[in-house]
Amino acid sequence: MSATRPRIAILISGRGSNMRALVEACRAGDINADIACVLSNKAGAPGLDYAAAHDIPTLTISHSDYPSREAFDAAMNQALDAYRPDWLLLAGFMRILTPVFIDHFAGRIFNIHPSLLPLYPGLNTHQRALEAGDTRAGASVHLVTAELDSGPVILQGVVDVCEGDDAENLAARVLGAEHLIYPQVVKWLTQGELSIDGQRCLFRGSDIIKPGRWYNGRLTEPETH
Ligand code: GRF
Repeated sequence: MSATRPRIAILISGRGSNMRALVEACRAGDINADIACVLSNKAGAPGLDYAAAHDIPTLTISHSDYPSREAFDAAMNQALDAYRPDWLLLAGFMRILTPVFIDHFAGRIFNIHPSLLPLYPGLNTHQRALEAGDTRAGASVHLVTAELDSGPVILQGVVDVCEGDDAENLAARVLGAEHLIYPQVVKWLTQGELSIDGQRCLFRGSDIIKPGRWYNGRLTEPETH
């Protein structure tokens, strides 16, 4: 991390409500960091408008302009390097990343996934939770490693599944939890409470053995050993 305020790049593909929660937390002083830029792989992603309206540099790099995932990732590396980000936050970024990107920013990329990982990596997480008859659902913030949705989990937002829920209203309830947990993880990073060593996530210097969680308005810190 640089000696000045840490710099964050946020990667989106669409709505950008998590990006917005992160921007708001920075602006409110809850997170002591600067948003260096917001990058989208889709032109016209609604989140870009919000970022631009808040004087945050925006970038669009369309994956469809590149012949391979690797070429797209290399273009993102080059564009993002110019903004000197300390951390890269995937926030609804709907592209699978290759080692070209993941190795370039190793240990500095985080993602939010709408399930209680390791349950339901991939897509349609809420529908899958409902079909499994789960009584709780949620979202996870994790370090990004080479395997999709599989890096160590730092914090989870947990909600109850309610009678009559469908995927849409469950997603909306989980999204509320997402907006709490992503800023919290970034706050821990900026405070030095959370650090990364290779693929290890350390909380106050010790390995996280169980993610923290937000549930019923209460934050439980990660367990360590
Ligand atoms: C969120 O549910 C996030 O967990 C998932 O994609 C969705 C993005 O929503 N990765 P938004 O663009 O942040 O509103």
